[in-house]
Parts: sequence; C-alpha cells; structure tokens
Amino acid sequence: MSLNARIDQAVGQTIRRAQRSPAPDRLAAAIEYAVTPGGARIRPTILLSVALACGDPNPRLSDAAAAALELMHCASLVHDDLPCFDNADMRRGKPSVHRAYSEPLAVLTGDSLIIAAFEAIAKTEGAEPSKALELVLTLAKRTGMPLGICAGQGWESESKIDLSAYHMAKTGALFIAATEMGAIAAGHDAEPWVELGARIGEAFQVADDLRDALMDEASLGKPAGQDDLHGRPNAVAEFGVDGATQRLRDILAGAIASIPSCPGEAALARMVQATAEKIIPEPARHRGMTPRIPGE
Ligand code: IPE
Ligand code: IPE
Ligand code: MG
Ligand code: MG
Repeated sequence: MSLNARIDQAVGQTIRRAQRSPAPDRLAAAIEYAVTPGGARIRPTILLSVALACGDPNPRLSDAAAAALELMHCASLVHDDLPCFDNADMRRGKPSVHRAYSEPLAVLTGDSLIIAAFEAIAKTEGAEPSKALELVLTLAKRTGMPLGICAGQGWESESKIDLSAYHMAKTGALFIAATEMGAIAAGHDAEPWVELGARIGEAFQVADDLRDALMDEASLGKPAGQDDLHGRPNAVAEFGVDGATQRLRDILAGAIASIPSCPGEAALARMVQATAEKIIPEPARHRGMTPRIPGE
C-alpha cells in the first residue's frame, strides 16, 4: 500500500472513532472538514518513511503514530486560524473551520483532534505498551510546553521573541516528532533521529516564509503576506529572498547528510530529496543560486 493510502486509512479510522453515535452531528462534521481532504500530509509521510527505513516491523503502530501526528497538526491549524490567533478566513483553499462552523465548534474540533491523536496510539491493537507509551510521551513533548507547538504559539505573545526557540517550537517540533516517532514505532532509539527532524523542520519554516512572501492567497489556499502583516520575524525579512532560498538549500543538504545509518538509508535519502524539491516554492526555485544583483 502507498504511504498516502496508509495515512488516509489510519486518519479515517481515527476520526471515525470520534464521530460514532451519540456524537453531536455538527462537531462530527467539523472534525471531518478539518482533516479531509487534508493538505500535503508531509509529517506523517516523513514518519512512515523513517519507520520503513528502520524495517517497519509493526505497521499498525507506525500507522497509528502517523495518524496521531497528522491529527495533531490539523488541530494546531484549526486553533491557529481562530480570531484570537491569526484570524485567517481560509485554509487549504476553503473557509477555515471557525468560518464554516463557528468559533465554539472550531475550539472543540481542535480539542477533539488532540485527544483523538493520543487515543489512536494508546488503542493500537497488539502494540507493545512500552512503545505506545514512548510514542505518547514524544508526541506530548513536541506539542506542549516548554518545547512544543504550545510554546511556539506562546512566543507570539512575548514582547521579545527568541527566534530560534520560536521556530523550533512552532514548526520544528512536529518534524522532530515525525522522525522520532517513526524510529520508535519501528523499535529503534529516537535520539539519533532528532537532528534529521530538526533540519527538515528548519527548512520547512524557511520555505513557508518564502511562500508567505512570494505567493498569493489563491495559490497558497490560505492568506498570504501574514508575516509582514503581523510583524513576525521571518527568514525573508532577515536574509532577503535569495539569501533565504540559499539557506533553504543548505539546510536541506545538511538534512540528507544527517540521516542516521539504517537498513533503508538510501531510500530515505531519496525521499528527503523528493520532499526538498516539493517544498522549495516555485517562484524561488531558480533563485538563491547566484549572487544578488544590487537594486533588484
Ligand atoms: C502549515 O503546514 C503550517 C506551518 C507549519 C507553516 P503545512 O504546509 O504542512 O500544511 P498542510 O497540512 O499541507 O495544509
Ligand atoms: C501555524 O503557523 C503553525 C502552527 C499552528 C504551529 P503559521 O500561522 O505561521 O502558519 P500558517 O501560515 O497559518 O499556515
Ligand atoms: Mg500562526
Ligand atoms: Mg497562521
């Protein structure tokens, strides 16, 4: 089965558990809306690729971990779009959950997805309890305080932002979770996989800053120019478009070099390379390779 099919099936199974009778209809529908058809599913794809590179001896557990990670990501987006955060009307080319269903239902959708994520891991049939527990704790660490998404979003309420802690927590944390959880689900030690996740996360943040600066709402499927609008520190403001693009390429090269030795190392390197090609935004693809022309 392809990775996409595995992810869709695992995500579908997990949300169906939350939607069972006597679930309230509108919240059940909002949960579906927040998760399907979904975005690029990049985090669970990385998670399963790492698990496969480590032999993937228990696909039921790696599938549950992948679903949990994607649901956590979807929850973070639903909450991030709320008026009290970014007040974004669009997400993935359609009205954001609070615009489509109401603010209370968007808060509850995010909450329900977070809980369903942990439940998916805890309920995996046939999983070794110690592995399931390690996955739950890893997801918690990369989501809550002081290192996870909550911390990342929390930095936006500080008067002075520690840029690297902010980016590491807001974006990097779930990519580190992806590589760590892929390794754990396959019975490997998580620690050697932290660097790969951190580097992919850093590259993804720079790519997102470039997309935010260079693309429009129609092609992004979500509001553009948000970093400027909210006065957020970002790679384009710091290094310019060419500098940020070059930085993105350097980080991705470092990511590939940091893959720990494992049975599927070569295939994983090809997967990271393919992901790299996808995340460099089209308007920046041919930039960053040449010195910047003054006044351009
Ligand atoms: C968007 O992540 C949020 C950021 C961390 C920048 P993605 O670009 O992975 O979102 P989807 O899931 O593909 O929509
Ligand atoms: C969203 O971050 C990522 C998290 C919720 C942690 P942003 O606000 O920068 O991303 P977009 O532009 O809404 O996807
Ligand atoms: Mg935000
Ligand atoms: Mg946002």
